[in-house]
Amino acid sequence: MKEHIKMKKIAVVTSGGDVPGLNAALHAVVLTAMKHNVEIIGVNNGYDGLIDGKFTVLDFERVRNIMDEGGTILRTSRSKRFTTSEGRREALHQLRHGEVDGLIVIGGNGSLQGIEVFASEHSFPVMAIPKTIDNDVFGTDFAIGFDTATNTIVEAIDRIKDTADSTSRLFIVEVMGRSAGFLALNSGIAVAADAIVVPEIKPDLEKLLSLAEHNLNVGNRSMIIVITENTLTGGAMGLKKIMDDSFPQFDSRVTILGHIQRGGSPSAFDRTLASLLSYSATEAFIKGKHGVMAGYVKGEVIFTPLNQVAGKINPLNNNLMKLAAELSILV
Ligand code: F6P
Repeated sequence: MKEHIKMKKIAVVTSGGDVPGLNAALHAVVLTAMKHNVEIIGVNNGYDGLIDGKFTVLDFERVRNIMDEGGTILRTSRSKRFTTSEGRREALHQLRHGEVDGLIVIGGNGSLQGIEVFASEHSFPVMAIPKTIDNDVFGTDFAIGFDTATNTIVEAIDRIKDTADSTSRLFIVEVMGRSAGFLALNSGIAVAADAIVVPEIKPDLEKLLSLAEHNLNVGNRSMIIVITENTLTGGAMGLKKIMDDSFPQFDSRVTILGHIQRGGSPSAFDRTLASLLSYSATEAFIKGKHGVMAGYVKGEVIFTPLNQVAGKINPLNNNLMKLAAELSILV
């Protein structure tokens, strides 16, 4: 049974890659804490800012009009220093110096692993909220930011399809995901891609080549392939080489969507998800729960211990994989 610490001051930090919906999360954290007369302070610049003691006031005035803003008003970082025990010790010192009773982390896999180590090393109360456009955080069906990024990709590919169709070209569109295929799978289904290439499935290049041949034979039909970055050798560029070597007559182009996928105003779903997870996490934290992550599982908010989240990866949804295999080629 963990000791119940009476929270008077909580710090909140956004860590790792930014995503749309972080500001909506901060809005909910502050409003929930206010109801319990708990003070919230923001940490500027992610875990680096924590180590440097970069605290800032986060009150109603600061968060009242930020729901629709992309990025994070707190800014963020991928901190190398927090991966060291000296860095984490300094972070603890800054929290103690600031008289902070607990820390809320809004982060993806790397940040959650870091905070799990920090919490167990120093027995400091932490609460986590999942965010990443990659959607690969274990313990939640959706992470904040994934829905908006998927919509951004869909909008971009819809436009690419217009030019691809008009010019009968093959377009290979590379999306983010690091080593997870959620963005490619969901957006690929939504744009009716001819083929989807994800890191979770060993690519069947023979199948892909015979589809390209078929498309060429039925009158130079355009083709869209969505591929996750880092898949195959060289991602989209690697696949273009394979396609060009086999079908030089197919005029191919590559579009790498890059960081466009991380920006923009959050979708209604991400704003709602961020609000629900952040409200639930803050409420539970103030009431004494800690060392856990608030996730959204089958429509419910579920708390999973951080040591069960850290180091694990969300698997792709089986039903969506089957659907993709039925409607396009999942290679
Ligand atoms: O984890 C989110 C993500 O956008 C990945 O999809 C991508 O591989 C990576 O971050 C890019 O990181 P950075 O912005 O540090 O280049």
